[in-house]
Amino acid sequence: MSSLLVRNIRTLVSAENTPRHIVRGAEMASLPVVNDAWLLAENGRIAAFGTMDNCPERADTVLDATGRFVLPAWCDSHTHIVFAATREEEFVDRIRGLSYEEIARRGGGILNSARKMQEATEDELLAGARARLYEVISTGTGAIEIKSGYGLTFGSEMKMLRVIRKLKEESPIPVKATFLGAHAVPLEYRERRNDYISLIINEMLPAVAGEGLADYCDVFCDKGFFTPDETDRILKAASVYGLKAKIHANELGITGGVQVGIANHALSVDHLEYTGDEEIEALLNSSTIPALLPNCAFFLGIPYPNARGMIDAGLPVALASDFNPGSAPSGNMQFVISLACIRMKMLPEEAVNAATVNGARAMELENEAGSVAVGKLANLMISRPMSSLAVLPYHFGSQMAETVIVNGKVFENELSGPTIKTTD
Ligand code: NIG
Ligand code: FE
Repeated sequence: MSSLLVRNIRTLVSAENTPRHIVRGAEMASLPVVNDAWLLAENGRIAAFGTMDNCPERADTVLDATGRFVLPAWCDSHTHIVFAATREEEFVDRIRGLSYEEIARRGGGILNSARKMQEATEDELLAGARARLYEVISTGTGAIEIKSGYGLTFGSEMKMLRVIRKLKEESPIPVKATFLGAHAVPLEYRERRNDYISLIINEMLPAVAGEGLADYCDVFCDKGFFTPDETDRILKAASVYGLKAKIHANELGITGGVQVGIANHALSVDHLEYTGDEEIEALLNSSTIPALLPNCAFFLGIPYPNARGMIDAGLPVALASDFNPGSAPSGNMQFVISLACIRMKMLPEEAVNAATVNGARAMELENEAGSVAVGKLANLMISRPMSSLAVLPYHFGSQMAETVIVNGKVFENELSGPTIKTTD
């Protein structure tokens, strides 16, 4: 039995006696806290917490958190961290004036990543994704979802999902896997897109489900990608295998993606840069969570999602990184929080709730992660000394999580550090 005690915590954030599984509307602006607190982890899980007047005396490891905040680790419910190559040429093309959609139409974008994926070996993909996973853990991520979708052939999609399965097995934090065969229509199917959809439904889905390679099914339902009808067919086919929907919607226009996600009981509809009153109304009458990905709006220069409208209407909002090589090449959740506050006018408390408890719910990990509650995984961040919680989003670009705890132990990224070899 190993134990960790964190003492003299200025503020223990999201400390729950009665766990909140989701936080919506006006509730998003409040966070349960304990000031002048301690927290005890045993065998990787949160065992107890309280105020310093009744602090336990001993533990195997004791950390002093004077002046610091302790928060639950980020729950990043939307990423694409398995990819074969970066796409900085497209980044430069966009600086020169091309749009994301123009690049996609001429065979770049997702199709560019899919070409590179064909040639990559499982070992190469695993090494790259593992390095990204460890990097995001060291910035405070304590649970993550990872999608396929750069394969777009039977073999390559299965290859990606096998890499995600290996990550799941070896990862120190919980990983959820999502099958995204419907990320783009491959060029050779442009004139016969129905054949690609049949391939997904009749060949990929049965194999993915048969090998238990995914928890969820995603579709990029948007202008120039998959229509709501096509999305509906794919999600219905996935549900036969027990794969719940978690989709990309309304990134490039008001396309009906939100509604088709809701009709298929999607756990979350993600992106939502284009959202009108009808989408908000439809979400209010559902249990589907809007998951917002401000890194993408930042990087592509598209409008930010209307988080304020959603929260003010009473919705629960989740925040995720969308870490991918095309539209969001960063998995830094603290930067996501900063963007949410600075550009989407979310309050720091709302942003923290969105990136922890609601993020956990958006990948069905609400009993394991997302808050400080007895029995949950001891995946936590200890901040630098801070005068208030708002300092976290305020210092955008600075690493405010000074120490990251994973499974009750201080996390050391053994994959970081210089890789340059010296010869003497
Ligand atoms: O979530 N929008 C669709 N998929 C990814 C981007 C994929 C890419 O450009 O590689 C996203 O933004
Ligand atoms: Fe995405």
